[in-house]
Amino acid sequence: MILVTGATGSIGRHLVRRLRQQDIPFRAFVRDPGRGRELDCELAVGDFDDPDSIAAALSGVERVFLCSPGAGPGSQPMVAQQTRVIDAAVRAGVGRVVKVSVWGARPGGLLAEGAHAEIEARLEASGLDWSIVQPSGFMQNFLTGAGTFTDGGDLLGAYGSAGVSYIDCADIAACADVLLRGDLGSRQRFVLTGPEALTHTEIAARLSAALGRTISYIDRPPADFAADLVAQGVPARFAADVAALYAEVAGGALAGITSAVRDLTGRPATTFAEFLARERDLLRQWPTGVTGDARAR
Ligand SMILES: NC(=O)c1ccc[n+]([C@@H]2O[C@H](COP(=O)([O-])OP(=O)(O)OC[C@H]3O[C@@H](n4cnc5c(N)ncnc54)[C@H](OP(=O)(O)O)[C@@H]3O)[C@@H](O)[C@H]2O)c1
Repeated sequence: MILVTGATGSIGRHLVRRLRQQDIPFRAFVRDPGRGRELDCELAVGDFDDPDSIAAALSGVERVFLCSPGAGPGSQPMVAQQTRVIDAAVRAGVGRVVKVSVWGARPGGLLAEGAHAEIEARLEASGLDWSIVQPSGFMQNFLTGAGTFTDGGDLLGAYGSAGVSYIDCADIAACADVLLRGDLGSRQRFVLTGPEALTHTEIAARLSAALGRTISYIDRPPADFAADLVAQGVPARFAADVAALYAEVAGGALAGITSAVRDLTGRPATTFAEFLARERDLLRQWPTGVTGDARAR
């Protein structure tokens, strides 16, 4: 039995579909039974903040997919929440935990990078078997509004001319599927990237082609972003961290390409053009007037 946390999320819903199609025994940990029903699978209703519900969900479980939302301004619940799951997994006699982390996770790293490193260390020390996937930025950020847009729907960022090897969450789910079902990947980390590093000008061109209208990429200095966030009421420390993350990416931190998706799944990672073609329906709801923050992750 596999427990899928974050089952209604960008990665989780792809993983649920895959496991269902293969008739693999699993249950989805969801906090909203209404949303959970759409997954069409066995549910364990609970919350990362409710230890009893985690313990109940883990009954009879051999492997766990561990994924929860990243950092927000002012709060960082991920460390406590995921640690709670890891501790409960030890008590429940779980075999392996497959954790979604982030590329660049390191002790003292900014926002999600530091938080994930803390959880990774906890998992390593737990005595459980584990596999950790460290994805690049998600292609899905451009659908959900987690990417940053101007009021007119143009793409806004501080990435300069650096490439980013965005990955499709369906590919992350495919890798997790392999790691949850077999013996591959014990006590290993996998940096998961897309097959190409695109600049945001190139991404804007692909979005333009997919939408049939011109989307431009507007590049701004990271410090200007931080100032805007502060003006919107975001704590100065968080805004400064976001700006520093932008600067890291502008320096090429997410420009590398790995073969991990192909190595684990036996097929190449999805290109941005393939992703946009698959998500045609969602793209029709393309955000105009959305402002968000992709780098908070
Ligand atoms: N975005 C990026 O570019 C990027 C890149 C690398 C790594 N990451 C990492 O990816 C992770 C996010 O993955 P994702 O995008 O698949 O997540 P997501 O789409 O934000 O979904 C989060 C999931 O967690 C569930 N959840 C939230 N709070 C919960 C709670 N208190 N108890 C139980 N379930 C709860 C949500 O359920 P509901 O349906 O009830 O809300 C949802 O299923 C983060 O750890 C982030 O650091 C992100």
